[in-house]
Amino acid sequence: MMIDRDGIALPGTPERQLLDELRPDRMPRHVAIIMDGNGRWAKARNLSRIQGHRAGAQAVRTTLETVSRLDIEAITLYAFSTENWKRPKLEIRALWGLLKEFIDSQLDTFKKNNLRFGTIGDLERLDPSVRKYLDRARQATRDCTGTLVKIALNYSGRHELSRVLREAVANAGQGRLKPDEIDEDWINRHLDTAGTPDPDLLIRTSGEQRVSNFLLWQIAYSEIYFTEVLWPDFGVTELLEAIQSYQQRNRRFGGLDPENLTGTEPHGGTSV
Ligand code: FPP
Repeated sequence: MMIDRDGIALPGTPERQLLDELRPDRMPRHVAIIMDGNGRWAKARNLSRIQGHRAGAQAVRTTLETVSRLDIEAITLYAFSTENWKRPKLEIRALWGLLKEFIDSQLDTFKKNNLRFGTIGDLERLDPSVRKYLDRARQATRDCTGTLVKIALNYSGRHELSRVLREAVANAGQGRLKPDEIDEDWINRHLDTAGTPDPDLLIRTSGEQRVSNFLLWQIAYSEIYFTEVLWPDFGVTELLEAIQSYQQRNRRFGGLDPENLTGTEPHGGTSV
């Protein structure tokens, strides 16, 4: 783990203090973020929702720069859910436009910072022009070995799990898969996130305390961090604070604390 400290915050600043307090040996491998609150951010400033999303895209740039300098292995950002099609057409069009703009303006930065671009979600429904941008970004960064950046597009956890179930049944019907072979490992290998470790830390901004159909299977043991901060205001300090909170948690994965494994605890059974 090689943290680029000066790249994130200069010595003597409050951000640097926060950064220096973090434990490099306890960094999350995978951070997932539900970026919420662009609309409220805009409303508070008398701006359009679309301007809120534009400010949100800027926060995405900052976050990616920081996670790459923290040498975090993977980040997954919830940019468009399968339910977001219910929004006004103009807003939907603006969101896809922002994504294209983002790819255009960031591709060089991705390569420079060694970031590998990817997506999760059902891309079938997307406009072919959007898919072309996504392919371009994926191709251009395929050899990058730094942080894996996954953008969730037309994604929802239930949609993904239904697709995996259909695949299992189809394979079984053709005699290529026995029911016994469908275990957690098989499911992991067929999710959109195959090959990426489960998120250690799930962040949701804007004060809502919901999971909203994001990575339902994968967050079984994720630490969840909620903050009141609206997504466009989520900067370096906010990300470092989320990681600090994560590092203070005691992850047991259903087991016991090491100190409780000595047999001195008479009833230690129900940790989660
Ligand atoms: C939630 O805010 C945010 C979204 C639905 C979209 C997230 C999109 C971006 C951050 C910008 C583009 C993304 C990339 C990757 C370039 P909201 O509209 O639900 O806010 P509200 O709850 O305050 O109305």
